[in-house]
Amino acid sequence: MTTPSDRALLRWYDRHRRVLPWRVLPGETADPYRVWLSEIMLQQTTVAAVKPYYARFLAAFPTIDALARAGEADVFAAWAGLGYYSRARNLHACAKLVAARGGFPDTIAGLEALPGIGPYTARAVAAIAFGAPVVPVDGNVERVAARLFAVAEPVPGARPRLAALAQTLNTGAEAQARASDFAQALFDLGATICTPRSPACALCPWRDACAAQAQGIAAELPLRAPK
Ligand code: ADE
Repeated sequence: MTTPSDRALLRWYDRHRRVLPWRVLPGETADPYRVWLSEIMLQQTTVAAVKPYYARFLAAFPTIDALARAGEADVFAAWAGLGYYSRARNLHACAKLVAARGGFPDTIAGLEALPGIGPYTARAVAAIAFGAPVVPVDGNVERVAARLFAVAEPVPGARPRLAALAQTLNTGAEAQARASDFAQALFDLGATICTPRSPACALCPWRDACAAQAQGIAAELPLRAPK
């Protein structure tokens, strides 16, 4: 067993990163508005389902100011079909506050104070848009951590432990310097290699560091507490 190398994950990401509409090319600066919008849409909706809504929404409201100025009915119309309408209401309220203050706050605390932005979304925006060296922990990242460290405790109880373990993954110099890429590399690893069923361990850049893979139990983790 080795320790999970930030370098190995980033090298894998450089070769295999998914092209997604809200992703910028390496070296380009991400627009916090687009990062935030995509993260809100992705909260309870799959990447495939989000894509067309994201494109239409951006065409209708290209900037945070445009969204802030829009009427409630137009925002709801552009959101229609994504469901969870509290998301649209919070989105609009957040846009008004952010436009009034002249842009998104760049700290986790500042982001978490905004409507519709919880611990996960605050960290995702801070890492992806502002390069903050934090690991946003969604279901994908929980699964990666559960397998890497062979955490046998079931979720949801194991969530705090998985989140703490996930934060140990970005301590290397490259992860710190490329926080945005590192966060997105973890999403891609969870979505394309470390998948819920039949993970593609043979292709995984962290194969030699994965305790669950060593024990032959990767596909079984994370365990889920009976409802
Ligand atoms: N899931 C949540 N945020 C994501 C992102 N930025 N890219 C891909 N999948 C995601």
